[in-house]
Amino acid sequence: ERKLAPFPEDFFWGASTSAYQVEGASLEDGKGPSCQDVKEVPEGTSDLTVCADHYHHYKEDIKLMADMGFKSYRFSIAWTRILPEGTGEINQKGIEFYNNVINECLKYGIEPIVTMFHFDMPAALDARGSWGNPESVEWFVNYAMVLYESFGDRVKYWLTINEQNMLTLVGPVIGTLTIPEGTENVLKEIYQQNHHMLVAQSKAMVLCHEMLPNAKIGPAPNISLVYPATCKPEDVIAAQNFNAVRNWLYLDAAVYGRYNSIVWAWLKQNDACPTFAPGDEEALKNGHPDFIGFNYYNTGTVEADDGSVEESPFGGDQQNGGGVAGMYKSYRNPNLQQTEFGWEIDPVGFRATIREMDSRYDLPMLVTENGLGAYDKVGEDGKVHDPYRIEYLRRHIEQIQEAITDGAEMLGYNPWSAIDLISTHEGMRKRYGFIYVDREDFDLGTMERQIKDSGWWYKKVIESNGEDL
Ligand code: BG6
Repeated sequence: ERKLAPFPEDFFWGASTSAYQVEGASLEDGKGPSCQDVKEVPEGTSDLTVCADHYHHYKEDIKLMADMGFKSYRFSIAWTRILPEGTGEINQKGIEFYNNVINECLKYGIEPIVTMFHFDMPAALDARGSWGNPESVEWFVNYAMVLYESFGDRVKYWLTINEQNMLTLVGPVIGTLTIPEGTENVLKEIYQQNHHMLVAQSKAMVLCHEMLPNAKIGPAPNISLVYPATCKPEDVIAAQNFNAVRNWLYLDAAVYGRYNSIVWAWLKQNDACPTFAPGDEEALKNGHPDFIGFNYYNTGTVEADDGSVEESPFGGDQQNGGGVAGMYKSYRNPNLQQTEFGWEIDPVGFRATIREMDSRYDLPMLVTENGLGAYDKVGEDGKVHDPYRIEYLRRHIEQIQEAITDGAEMLGYNPWSAIDLISTHEGMRKRYGFIYVDREDFDLGTMERQIKDSGWWYKKVIESNGEDL
């Protein structure tokens, strides 16, 4: 029998949130609007003005995280709380809020892991062309500098951009990515914006290493290995195509400072290669992540395009119905179960994804998200029983241990989410938290918190450093 290696002693067991989904107080204390505050709210779901009201409950929330024994808490900073216009004036109240959150974490020995940008572009910068404006590189680097100056004495783990790949592939679904009206070549515009993000990320990594020599920084894309639907060679090519477009583009750029050749060739075919400003090539080469942060929910599966995939600039994902013409066609994996919200569940694919990253990049890895969205309900005893989530998490944690045994260096596990919050486009009813929040999409309830069964179970997991699953 295979003997499993233990989890490292200093493994970061924790969980994640993002500012615009958890904080609420969306325009309070000087915070400027982000794209999330001005977007059209998806029908039948709550807006983002209150969320879990973490802005006013952070002490209680972090105390509950400490009760579960968290070693880390991954949260994001709202750019517009710090710089309401995206550039210019600093909002001291915003600095104060994150100082409080960070200090509260440290009080309990919880390592703050900070995401600099999680789907919430300042609305004022969207109006100036968003990531499509070449100046966006400097906007982001300036914002990064303010963060390092303000919090770098206490924050040792930084994440640059959350799920840049999802932003690029399905941005409009999550209320981000502005395409200027009248844009002729939408694909080129998208990948130009993506290019600016890559350069901005690289410069932010360089600046972090200069300003904070003891800190570590990495990207946080959503990485999922893509399987071929069959062993037909054409399907393998399709899987390689989607792997390149979905995953490797982002990590090749972050780690090796260059574009993935399959992606570059595809963009070239579509006259959509991004324009490099002078110095961009060097800037990409200069950035080096200390680790790879990544979100994992499920693998993808594709087959060769039989000519039925329609041309669409947003063809990246199953959610978007289909694939990319001539490159790949989405395929439902018949071997996998699905969540109540139709997401495939693939714990073994987690291990496969980690192995693949390990052999491509040879860097330590930090799981920044993973988790199960479900319709949790309060039971007759007043508690929240979520055995399905325990099952989901257990099976994924087992696979991390398999991957560690395979030789991968894993820094931590921070599933989505520490506390119930608003999902990207399916509202409050799609819950992920270890902590239940008493509110519904259109009824703000009491906002009372309680730890779900999964949270008490997770406490045992943490206490035993992953032995007691
Ligand atoms: C990730 C995002 O894509 O998945 C989170 O980083 C998001 O912001 C999470 O909430 C779950 O997705 P969803 O669509 O169910 O909220």
